Amino acid sequence: MIVDIERVAHGGVCVAHADDGRVVFVRHTLPGERVRLVVTEEKKSYIRADAVEVLTPAAGRVDPPCRWAGPGRCGGCDWQHVDIAEQRLLKATVVQEQLQRVAGIERAVTVEEAAGTSDGLGWRTRMRFAVDDSGRAGLRRHRSHDVVPIDDCLIAVRAARVPDLVARDWPPDGEVSVDVSAAGERALSIGTPDEQLTEHAVDRDWLVPVGGFWQVHPAAADVLAEALLASAEPKATDRCLDLYSGVGLFAGALAPHVASIVAVESDGRAVAAAKANLASDQHVTVVRDRVDRWIRRDPQPVDVVVLDPPRKGARGAVVNGIVACDPRVVVYVACDPAALARDLATFAEHGYELGRLRAFDLFPMTAHVECVAQVIRR
Ligand SMILES: C[S@@+](CC[C@H](N)C(=O)[O-])C[C@H]1O[C@@H](n2cnc3c(N)ncnc32)[C@H](O)[C@@H]1O
Repeated sequence: MIVDIERVAHGGVCVAHADDGRVVFVRHTLPGERVRLVVTEEKKSYIRADAVEVLTPAAGRVDPPCRWAGPGRCGGCDWQHVDIAEQRLLKATVVQEQLQRVAGIERAVTVEEAAGTSDGLGWRTRMRFAVDDSGRAGLRRHRSHDVVPIDDCLIAVRAARVPDLVARDWPPDGEVSVDVSAAGERALSIGTPDEQLTEHAVDRDWLVPVGGFWQVHPAAADVLAEALLASAEPKATDRCLDLYSGVGLFAGALAPHVASIVAVESDGRAVAAAKANLASDQHVTVVRDRVDRWIRRDPQPVDVVVLDPPRKGARGAVVNGIVACDPRVVVYVACDPAALARDLATFAEHGYELGRLRAFDLFPMTAHVECVAQVIRR
């Protein structure tokens, strides 16, 4: 099939239409291109496909720096074939479109470059590799459990030493993770070891469980904390919540500026690390619970809520719980603009509107984009 690519869509794909009118979600292409497709999945209402031949290239197309990127190969990156400035324009378009379509919000969006990523390579400090049945570590094919053997990953920080990792034998059919700290300390792990790395952000050190959550891009922790403080506009009398708090990064950033913080996190190792990290901040309480359960139990008035949920977002019950606490401002750190837009629509039903919005390119070469949304009571 040959199609003309119309526009970019959420998830690292572009949209075209087949002759029968069905929408085609195409990877490895760009708006304005004419491409030949190989269909990868066919449903009644839509088709998924890979562009395997570019008949008319778009101006933003480049040769992918990674030889493992491309149709049928490693599924880790979406935009290796796109100039880095153009990648940010695509991501901005996706954020704008999600806000408009899902939440009815018209907003011009700029995706900001993070320090140290001018070529979009060498930034990933945390990686998880799948191990095949012969004990070889690789990365997964797009929308597949197949393990693609690779000899390097160009978006990983060099200190991850991916060539060395994938050359070793690992227990078959499992996973192996590599974490690299700000100081370049490297930890390989299988499962959930009882070890920690030390990270550095917002002018302090952070204990982080090996294989546990820490912002992946080396600039992310500071960039997000700074954007969060600018949006929260904290006051010395503020009572705050840090929901989905991980090892306490955002609670720690807010702590010098406010009266009290409750940080809520469900992962036991992250909670233990957060308690250690925030031990000297006596006005910070760390609670181990699921946010969706905790927020509904006994809503107390607060002034500021920070939330940084996983990809699926907060969803209605958590948004309703936040609103029941009647905050002046909510700062929503979101890794999926579709989930953010859906939750902003729920906030709007309760009289909260989008204030400032910033978006950061913390995952170059992939379709992911991180947003920091200020949500204010009307
Ligand atoms: C995107 S991370 C954010 C962590 C932290 N804000 C940071 O920047 O380091 C999301 C966190 O939410 C936690 N989490 C996931 N689902 C949760 C739930 N239902 N309730 C509480 N925490 C949850 C995860 O364990 C993870 O630590």
